[in-house]
Amino acid sequence: MRLKLRNIFLVYFVVSSAGLMYALLQLGQQCDCTHSTNYALRKEQLSHRGKENLPIIYVVTPTFARPHQRAELTRLSQTLLLVPSLHWILVEDSAERTAAVAELLAQSDLPYTHLNVQTPLAMKLKDSDPNWLKPRGVEQRNEALRWLREHRSPGDRGVVYFADDDNTYSVKIFQEMRYTQKVSVWPVGLVGGLRYEAPLVDNGKVIGFHTAWKTHRPFPIDMAGFAVSLSLLLTHPNARFDPDAERGFLESSLLGQLVTLRELEPRADNCTKVWVWHTRTEKPKLKQEDMLEKQGRGSNPKIFV
Ligand SMILES: *[C@@H]1O[C@H](CO)[C@@H](O)[C@H](O)[C@H]1NC(C)=O
Repeated sequence: MRLKLRNIFLVYFVVSSAGLMYALLQLGQQCDCTHSTNYALRKEQLSHRGKENLPIIYVVTPTFARPHQRAELTRLSQTLLLVPSLHWILVEDSAERTAAVAELLAQSDLPYTHLNVQTPLAMKLKDSDPNWLKPRGVEQRNEALRWLREHRSPGDRGVVYFADDDNTYSVKIFQEMRYTQKVSVWPVGLVGGLRYEAPLVDNGKVIGFHTAWKTHRPFPIDMAGFAVSLSLLLTHPNARFDPDAERGFLESSLLGQLVTLRELEPRADNCTKVWVWHTRTEKPKLKQEDMLEKQGRGSNPKIFV
């Protein structure tokens, strides 16, 4: 009898210790996250890890030097890090590629291409001009198109997205655009004087647009609201943004050469979800810099900000 009790106690001890050990080991593990909202993204990352067959998302970002440039680019680059199979094409509006941007790119851990092209002076926005006066980033986006046509062939699977450096992007929008046949579209938040602009969708087809500004535009879609398949761009070698396009017509100037309205592919739950926002960053106030400089103790220009 005594022996049996001891055996029962021993078995109980071994089982509970094993249970405790197992629980402790689990504490350090990553969760499977099947219940989390990031599940789709994780699944995409995990199921394609090491595989080469995911179409590449080419993110084209025009950028120009300003005090908060590296802050914007850091924020964007760290969003892009969450997206598998992505290639960042950063195009500076400058006579030369700058060290401040080159360093940021080199440390970004992203596959990237660093380009530059200077906007002709006549087209350039002056500091005093309101930012809607002339379209910005036209030459830079066209330079990226030129690079893609030179370095990729129509057989390569990919999609091209024009992502300005000051917008806010959910990783979801990149999942939505990856398998674009021709041109995919979705809503953009905080744009055009509205809470959002969006394509209107009926039966899975775009039939019009929710917009309040220049509603006669052929494609009243913000730059952040569409992506174009790489092969479509490469099979239309002359398609580009028109630097002389009327204000608001820049997106239409490219899309009009590539698709019809009926061919647009609605994404983001038939254009009912906002997963990109046309946010703007306040201009930093740096007026104390002049004062310190006059006193001969200005900020160190060698420190990148
Ligand atoms: C979009 O609408 C079409 C037609 O109503 C429907 O078949 C399709 O499942 C919808 N797509 C999504 C992602 O909700």
